[in-house]
Amino acid sequence: MRDSRETFVNHAFLTGYPVKHSRSPLIHGYWLKQFGIEGSYRALEITPEAFPDFMRQLKDETAGFCGGNVTIPHKEAAFRLADRPDDLSAELGAANTLWLEDGEVCATNTDGRGFVANLDERAKGWDRISTAVVLGAGGASRAVIQAIRDRGVKAIHVVNRTPERARELADRFGGAVHAHPMAALAETMSGAGLFVNTTSLGMDGEQAPAIDFSPMAGDAVVTDIVYVPLKTPLLRQAEEQGFRIVDGLGMLLHQAVPGFEKWFGRRPVVDETLRQIIISDMDKHA
Ligand code: ATR
Repeated sequence: MRDSRETFVNHAFLTGYPVKHSRSPLIHGYWLKQFGIEGSYRALEITPEAFPDFMRQLKDETAGFCGGNVTIPHKEAAFRLADRPDDLSAELGAANTLWLEDGEVCATNTDGRGFVANLDERAKGWDRISTAVVLGAGGASRAVIQAIRDRGVKAIHVVNRTPERARELADRFGGAVHAHPMAALAETMSGAGLFVNTTSLGMDGEQAPAIDFSPMAGDAVVTDIVYVPLKTPLLRQAEEQGFRIVDGLGMLLHQAVPGFEKWFGRRPVVDETLRQIIISDMDKHA
């Protein structure tokens, strides 16, 4: 893509603080190469203090940016400072994808779309459910709740160690979402068709509680947004108990699709080669 002055505007970025462990450059680098697009996707470490200036400079054509991703801790600031945040990011109060349109910074959040696209790919028919249980009430939980509500799940039980945070989400997302303390976990799982772990429990070899998934529907799907390790302790338990499991790597891969399409004009596909590239990288840094 070229702008009217024939300047290249094919540079995309990932900004966060820190950003060095991100796998997004590998994902977008793979697609750029696959399409033969002369562009780039680079990680830029920007401190919270410098972020407002960075947002302003994005609009400067000479910077050559077509857009980019935003990660922790800038997602809320990116939403606030964007000229045109969309409805999804407005409801979450956080954006992870920015692009330029008519000289303005537009923003959305693709985490929820990545989450459901991963389930669509790896657990077809998952959405024929009426009840879901979401463990955790942080930023990732919000995107998951929004996406499954928008997909038509009628009852979403949010269970969290700090019940006030779960209540805040129930207030934010309306009637379908119900807040519960940890002690109510087993009860909320009764007959549920989907279980989502959005907490860091079991990440990087950390301990995870033993969970009895048997109250759930026989064909229920259990998924984790943690993808290191790929088969988290929660997923392992669910599998041993005979449930369908979906790991969290696909959410990372699929959330990248809408951004790439906005910046470079081609809709990329999440394929097995890409998945293996990321798994090899995870093994290298294990
Ligand atoms: P993110 O934005 O990645 O979702 P976050 O906002 O820090 O991260 O949220 C982390 C979630 O994991 C929260 O739901 C947190 O529970 P609290 O709200 O009670 O803090 C949950 N969490 C983290 N460690 C936990 C633990 N050891 N036991 C139970 N829940 C835990």
